Amino acid sequence: MECVYQQRQFTYRSVCRSALDSVNALSVISVEVRAGPHRYDVLIGSGLLEQLGEYVRKYLPRKTCAIISDGSVAAIFGSQAIENLTRADYRPTLITIPAGEKSKNLNKAGGVCNRMIAAGLDRESFVIGLGGGVIGDISGFVAAIFHRGIPHVQIPTTLLAMVDSSIGGKTGVNTRAAKNLIGAIHHPTLVIDDVDVLKTLPRREFNQGFAEIIKHAIISDAEMFAALKNVDLENLTPLIRRNIEIKSRIVAKDEDDRTGERAILNFGHTVGHAIERAGDYQEFLHGEAISLGIVAACDVSIKRAALPRDQRNAVIDLFRRFDLPTHLPPNFPREKIFEAMPFDKKFESGEVRFVVTPRIGSAHLSSDVTMEDIRDAVDRL
Ligand SMILES: NC(=O)c1ccc[n+]([C@@H]2O[C@H](COP(=O)([O-])OP(=O)(O)OC[C@H]3O[C@@H](n4cnc5c(N)ncnc54)[C@H](O)[C@@H]3O)[C@@H](O)[C@H]2O)c1
Ligand SMILES: [Zn+2]
Repeated sequence: MECVYQQRQFTYRSVCRSALDSVNALSVISVEVRAGPHRYDVLIGSGLLEQLGEYVRKYLPRKTCAIISDGSVAAIFGSQAIENLTRADYRPTLITIPAGEKSKNLNKAGGVCNRMIAAGLDRESFVIGLGGGVIGDISGFVAAIFHRGIPHVQIPTTLLAMVDSSIGGKTGVNTRAAKNLIGAIHHPTLVIDDVDVLKTLPRREFNQGFAEIIKHAIISDAEMFAALKNVDLENLTPLIRRNIEIKSRIVAKDEDDRTGERAILNFGHTVGHAIERAGDYQEFLHGEAISLGIVAACDVSIKRAALPRDQRNAVIDLFRRFDLPTHLPPNFPREKIFEAMPFDKKFESGEVRFVVTPRIGSAHLSSDVTMEDIRDAVDRL
């Protein structure tokens, strides 16, 4: 079966087949993402890591690669990846950094580059990022700067990374001042989503992936929003595919994040990022902070975009199904949320726009939102 969708400058192709050419896989879905001159395949299915070398070989006939991972993920999947790539005639070097957001910094990126140089990797090599969004972002950044850019293969191991961070080409690291301040757009050559890796993901990490899925539903897919009440957790492939299609369609309209169309992906993130920072990245996972940010954005949308109140309540119900927070804990340092919003000045002068939803399935940037609206919404959290 082959389905081709075309929408203005964006095209993606979903190919569903029982075997991917010479590679004998039971069921692999391949979604081709095209954005401007870039195109890459996202393979989604079960058991893909068992044939990792063969899949990669179809896209990258190179010899040497760095597998960049974090300590926890490498302990589970590292040796399997190395053995598999070696069997397919690659020379992989595994480089790990400690798990967690605190590792996503320039220092660690530099350290990884040095280890790649010491291992003899060069411009003919490529990078495999094996891990969640932290690893996807830092390994992509390393791939973007090593010898001024070498290919990047993403193997996301969290739900959040599969449906969100591995798509769109944004790579980077955090600085003390803010998240993702240093980075590059560097699209992967290939993304491999093996749904089996999600079996070892802790429940809280699994659930936070649904925050971005629910965000995608609110901003552009009312049908998916309704279906999420009865999602089949045993077969996540269709859901992952749908989310990749949503994100890539939005990214393709505004690849460089210039026209404002990509900005709707930031729905819930103005407040969400501030909550993440106010909690010093310890209190909430990204997806949890985004759930709270989305609740606030829905409250702002009731006032500024005529979002019906029952739709805001439906969003809250859905978050609760996935154990995602919809209220701040009583002892949370609320005053820090506003300090953590970097845009006060611009907001005051009306320069910054806020993403609102007038109804589930649709979102747009609004320039009518005031600091007061946001403050009220945060006060209600
Ligand atoms: N580039 C983008 O467009 C984009 C979009 C959204 C988020 N992000 C970034 O993604 C990051 C968050 O990603 P994340 O939530 O995946 O965090 P993460 O990479 O820190 O992974 C979460 C935790 O789960 C563990 N883990 C990962 N896979 C596992 C598995 N299969 N089994 C057991 N444990 C596993 C990791 O070791 C880690 O402790 C943030 O840095 C955020 O800024 C980037
Ligand atoms: Zn996010």
